[in-house]
Amino acid sequence: MRILGIETSCDECSAAVVDNGRTILSNIIATQIEAHRPFYGVVPEIASRMHTEWIIPVVKEAIEQAGIEENTIDAVAVTSRPGLIGSLLVGMCFGKAFAFSKGIPFIGIDHIEAHLYAPHLEQDISYPYIGLLVSGGHSLITYVRDFDDYDVLGTTIDDACGEAFDKVAKFYDIGYPGGVAIDRLSKEGDDRAFNFPKPSLHKGDHQYDVSYSGLKTAAVNQLDLFWNGEAEKSRANIAASFQRAAIDIIANKAIKAARDKGVKKIVAGGGVSANSYLRRKMADQKDIQAIFPSLKLCTDNGAMIAGLSYHHLKKGRQSELNLNASARVPLFKKNYP
Ligand code: KG4
Ligand code: ZN
Repeated sequence: MRILGIETSCDECSAAVVDNGRTILSNIIATQIEAHRPFYGVVPEIASRMHTEWIIPVVKEAIEQAGIEENTIDAVAVTSRPGLIGSLLVGMCFGKAFAFSKGIPFIGIDHIEAHLYAPHLEQDISYPYIGLLVSGGHSLITYVRDFDDYDVLGTTIDDACGEAFDKVAKFYDIGYPGGVAIDRLSKEGDDRAFNFPKPSLHKGDHQYDVSYSGLKTAAVNQLDLFWNGEAEKSRANIAASFQRAAIDIIANKAIKAARDKGVKKIVAGGGVSANSYLRRKMADQKDIQAIFPSLKLCTDNGAMIAGLSYHHLKKGRQSELNLNASARVPLFKKNYP
């Protein structure tokens, strides 16, 4: 089955052609980073407008690079949730029109589930495992039994992990996108220079939940309170110390979840899963096998959408053409009283 996958949930305009949920024939990712850089964050109106300009050439390029005829595409899969609503709608409208005009199935895909599927495009991974999803908008620890069967064990109660990276980078003018810039600068820094807090307040049902607003505020506003007097006060040291705290918060919970559940495997996905400290830390856990996607498949891309959709389509599932996009998925975010 040959699937055209489209992903426009945020600031990447991406289209891919994937055969049988595994063979990537093309995966075009047109990033809008330069357009958003002056604002140190994604501006929704700019993002959706650029998607409308880019979607046709990006899909054309994906088909061309795959070296296939348009009429050999069997189905169209598009991110339908969660994400920026205006951006999602561009991919959805295009995908529906394409599928309708060709008379082939259309299916809306959850982009968080697709992030967790990304490493499956590159290797055989057996279930169950602990899924660790860390992106700009979400932070989730899941117990995964199959591609469509998982429990959310923990999530953030406030900011997402990637969001904290982006805010701290913005405050210290470290670069954009924040996660990439902090990761790079951290290599020159001492990650023990600042003792930033790693909140872990939740017990029982909430024991795998995480919180980032305290760490973000500490890194931004209360630098002097967490200062290690022996170290130099530099942006590289702030970056490295913040990165260690931000990653430890969620990685330690994922490791605990794996041990608690008797699972020996953690599969990561999402933009922050590109982080070098996270990868090193996971590699150090000798009792746990950690699986990461390649760097290109960590951030938003059409291949993971096409890849995951194959398994749904194979089970006979598809979406109606009146499917709407959703900005949020309630299961992925907790509202604490
Ligand atoms: O998955 P993604 O492309 O988009 C969302 O679905 O949100 O993730 C983007 C996030 C941004 O917050 C970005 O700063 C972060 O991933 N990121 C990183 C790294 N590369 C990207 N964070 C930490 N370390 C990295 N190397
Ligand atoms: Zn994403």
